[in-house]
Amino acid sequence: MLDLTFGGRLRLPLIQAPMFLVSTPALALACCSRGVMGSFPAHATRSRDVFADWLAQMMEGVAALENPAPWAVNIVVHPTNARMEGDLELSIHRKVPVILTSKGAPESIFGRIHEYGGVAFHDVASARHAEKAAAAGADALIAVTDGAGGHCGTINPFALLNEIRQVTDKPIILSGAMSTGRDILAAQTMGAAAAYMGTRFIATTEGGADDKYRQLLIDSTARDVFFSSALDGAPANWIKQSLIDCGVDLNELATTIPGEIMASGKVRERYSKVKSCGQGVGMVSAVESAVAVCDRLRAEYDDARAAMRAVVDGTSRN
Ligand SMILES: Cc1cc2nc3c(=O)[nH]c(=O)nc-3n(C[C@H](O)[C@H](O)[C@H](O)COP(=O)(O)O)c2cc1C
Repeated sequence: MLDLTFGGRLRLPLIQAPMFLVSTPALALACCSRGVMGSFPAHATRSRDVFADWLAQMMEGVAALENPAPWAVNIVVHPTNARMEGDLELSIHRKVPVILTSKGAPESIFGRIHEYGGVAFHDVASARHAEKAAAAGADALIAVTDGAGGHCGTINPFALLNEIRQVTDKPIILSGAMSTGRDILAAQTMGAAAAYMGTRFIATTEGGADDKYRQLLIDSTARDVFFSSALDGAPANWIKQSLIDCGVDLNELATTIPGEIMASGKVRERYSKVKSCGQGVGMVSAVESAVAVCDRLRAEYDDARAAMRAVVDGTSRN
């Protein structure tokens, strides 16, 4: 079974999740420097050359760090991703330590990642997805649940983890609406090996979000997050204010069947301006460096462990 601490190099059981146009090498490296796995999506780069440059930045960056956490690249391994083969080839060539695969779980891809000593974590939103990915050779499963930022799951985390546990004993990484060190411990208590956090890292100085987007995060709470499958056909969480700013009628969106609004072409051109976050956004109250965020998460996690020890011993009711 995979050692998800990577020989102790993952000093906090946490992965900074890949986020389109937000996760950058600078963000990933900041996290790696604090013992948290950093990542970015390959498809966030404009071209293969830019992707090659980002990989080079990561390799140089981690080489300069003392005891860095492992890092990861997200690749959409679905035939509809025209860049998939080239991005995978380059990642294999560069021996990217961890590949975060999403959409489709072809056996051959996991085999190619294992061949060079890489590790593959696959995104799943249901027990059926998890069973297929586990059978195809994924090393761990990222359980993407209701409330997650970006394209999310639709199942409650307790329900999804319990169902996945019935079909596989592969390590599970929990994704969705977590934002504190206590949440990381809670994920472990539920049986997950690690937590996967995106939204917590959007308003960081190292990330690619602009000031307006960062401010939207600071101003938002869970009630400002709008769930819809109608914007691009897949279930996702959007920031209400960013939809309104783009002229989207929320009532219309709420009653639109998936795909229809995109098909109209009305939203397609404005789509790039619509912003996403998860329901954990209420814990984001300032723009900070990712280093500070990781250090606070670590301190909160240690406090939560001490508090939980007292609960387990029966000396505190928490
Ligand atoms: C702005 C944004 C962009 C995202 N882009 C991607 C992506 O390109 N690939 C991917 O696998 N997941 C993507 N995600 C999902 C995250 O990897 C992760 O599952 C999610 O952020 C976890 O939930 P949280 O944001 O509530 O912490 C994105 C999430 C956000 C908020």
